[in-house]
Amino acid sequence: MRQPLPDAWYCVGRAEALKAGTLRSVQLNGELIVMGRDGEGAPFALRDRCPHRGMALSKGRFDGDALTCPFHGWRFGTDGRCRDVPTLSASDAADLSRIAVQRFPVRESAGFVWVNPHLGASGSDVPAVPELDFEPAGCVVVALEVEASFDLTTLSLVDPGHVAFVHDSWWFRPSKELREKVKSFRPTPHGFTMTSHATSKSSPVYRLLGGVPDVEIEFRLPGVRLERIRAGSKRVANYTFATPMTQNRTLLTNALYFSVPALKPLQPVAKLLMRQFLTQDQQVLQHAQAGLDRKPTMVLFGQGDLPSQWYFRLKREALQAARESRAFANPLQSQELRWRS
Ligand code: FES
Ligand SMILES: [Fe+2]
Repeated sequence: MRQPLPDAWYCVGRAEALKAGTLRSVQLNGELIVMGRDGEGAPFALRDRCPHRGMALSKGRFDGDALTCPFHGWRFGTDGRCRDVPTLSASDAADLSRIAVQRFPVRESAGFVWVNPHLGASGSDVPAVPELDFEPAGCVVVALEVEASFDLTTLSLVDPGHVAFVHDSWWFRPSKELREKVKSFRPTPHGFTMTSHATSKSSPVYRLLGGVPDVEIEFRLPGVRLERIRAGSKRVANYTFATPMTQNRTLLTNALYFSVPALKPLQPVAKLLMRQFLTQDQQVLQHAQAGLDRKPTMVLFGQGDLPSQWYFRLKREALQAARESRAFANPLQSQELRWRS
């Protein structure tokens, strides 16, 4: 239960960072994965480990068609199959079909690359990859590594209680007072959604859109928070993804997409503020992780902590469903929650 869901899609970086003819090594769930694009531009992901002596294939050459290990020159296709062992003599009776590098499923969506690190056949009932339902005029991305477990980091995506204390910057929370909030939640496939009509007292960030926006925040397994803001025909999406790198290192990626070209000049400022916001989470999560390392228990208390409890329930159900080879059955019910923030 403390491990991240093994059979799920995780964000491993921007799609534009994966360029033809080059290799990238990423860390995902304790594994090193070498990524690239084949001749057709399709992304691939292989375990970054040559089966011969364990060499990192990402250190080798890639000609757009095959990867060459820099240690003894074994060659592998982007499907992971061994194509050539150049040191073999003609008298070696070699069967290359038995040699392969583990291949992981890859997808591209919302400007990012997603990998499912599951070993073996992936189940059919895996949470969907996040998508964008409008054509963005611009996108600002900030990513930060947090020295904390995947669970602890993901909880911060569904935790309304920390906002007033951790994210108390003037531009996000002009008022320092705690106010009672009432929000309705409903279950969605592999998660839950909170809907609300923002008030004019909302953050100045919303005011930039003009008018009172509708805000919908979806949480989805494994660690995906999708905030969708609508003001008339204007659209903003604020997506956050948690990616487990190792046991105690999690990548937080925050992407802000907007439909209005007039907001483009604000991109550098947005990036600065997003980085500040994410750094606030990073700092507090690292200190909390140190406390959990000394004693790994939490007290989840009050309605503000219910979404955190739901996260663990959703995850438990996903693990159980996979074990029993059945469809995921969302254990949550629609509910109104009250808290002060
Ligand atoms: S370690 Fe890769 S070819 Fe020997
Ligand atoms: Fe936060």
